[in-house]
Amino acid sequence: MDLFEKLKSNRGPLGSYAKEVHGYFTFPKLEGEIGPRMIFRGKERLNWSLNNYLGLANHPEVRKADAEGAARYGAAMPMGARMMSGNTDLHEQLERELADFEKKEDAILVNYGYQGIMSAIDALVDRHDVIVYDSESHACIIDGVRLHMGKRYVFPHNDIKNLEIQLERATKLIADTNGSILVITEGVFGMSGDQGRLKDIVELKKKFQFRLLVDDAHGFGTMGKTGAGVSEEQGCMDEVDLYFGTFAKSMALIGGFIAGDAQVVEYLRYNMRSQIFAKALPMPLVVGALKRLELLRTQPELKDNLWKITHALQGKLREEGFEIGKTQSPVTPVFLNGSIPEAANLIFDLRENYNIFCSMVVYPVVPKGVIMLRLIPTAIHSLEDVDYTIKAFSSIKDKLKAGHYERAMEKVM
Ligand SMILES: Cc1ncc(COP(=O)(O)O)c(C=O)c1O
Repeated sequence: MDLFEKLKSNRGPLGSYAKEVHGYFTFPKLEGEIGPRMIFRGKERLNWSLNNYLGLANHPEVRKADAEGAARYGAAMPMGARMMSGNTDLHEQLERELADFEKKEDAILVNYGYQGIMSAIDALVDRHDVIVYDSESHACIIDGVRLHMGKRYVFPHNDIKNLEIQLERATKLIADTNGSILVITEGVFGMSGDQGRLKDIVELKKKFQFRLLVDDAHGFGTMGKTGAGVSEEQGCMDEVDLYFGTFAKSMALIGGFIAGDAQVVEYLRYNMRSQIFAKALPMPLVVGALKRLELLRTQPELKDNLWKITHALQGKLREEGFEIGKTQSPVTPVFLNGSIPEAANLIFDLRENYNIFCSMVVYPVVPKGVIMLRLIPTAIHSLEDVDYTIKAFSSIKDKLKAGHYERAMEKVM
């Protein structure tokens, strides 16, 4: 069969719905300044769908730094990969500041979180080594594991007893291969909002020999006393061997970093294919990241505000009888029961009649019959936004129960 004919007839699990949902449920366009209120289809909506946790995206100092970075250096600089011709003092300064913030010896920048963590996993292990990872790991970890030529064992999400079993298996295996073990988990799981059990995992180092890589995409800037992440929150920064953070969430930018022991970071610098064979992070992003990191460190009120809104939102949702699962972070899932068509009608109602924009997740990401709405509070939402949203959610929950969404809503697409 011709490759393109095959792709046209089987458009993938999400692509097969594209015709019906494109532009509304998928690939929606949020316009205007980034913030709690944005324009969707020409109308202002209260927006709970961006990982702009600290509200930095539109912070005046950030906007100024972004503009100055672009004006001074342009988007092209530096040309080439860091190793060949694209290294600069500012890249190195950013790495030093990130390492200091994470209390690690060194850090390496990556151009995209997704690509960076995949490539780091690829560089860290060889076919003699074993990867042990959490079953609910983000796609970038799964893809990194796919690159691994050796064995991989998965443990059910946050199941430490099972992790121990997998570590026993892995330990036996590496005795034959003369390899090593890499455990991978997340700081905050981005869908459910619960934390990886880092403290319990590092306890297992007393019994097993392994190194731990933590993807803390959602925890960096939001968790821990200083915002250094879930390892700080759980008091195990030293025992997390490699800490990964992205700039795409709290920092409202693009890029990311991996922090750890100096020699291991140097190993990554010389062995991470996605960085060796790709153009360096552009200067405006580096300048912008330095400013964001400065604000993240020096303006704790940003994180305090985020948590004020988070506590209000999650507390009131619980008070009103909503099921919000086991979240231990700002990520706020709301679980409802209904079919996929009901979910679509509900979201349509929420957007068009209540002017609330949030993300929705249905089967196969959550079990059949479950509708998960995902709210991301930020430092720049207000308590009035929370109250308005709780009222709207109570109203749509009642309508869902009464079967209102079984009837098709007006077609908009
Ligand atoms: C847990 C996790 N890791 C990694 C990534 C990828 O980061 P980036 O957007 O910087 O590529 C994400 C982004 O959604 C994430 O949620």
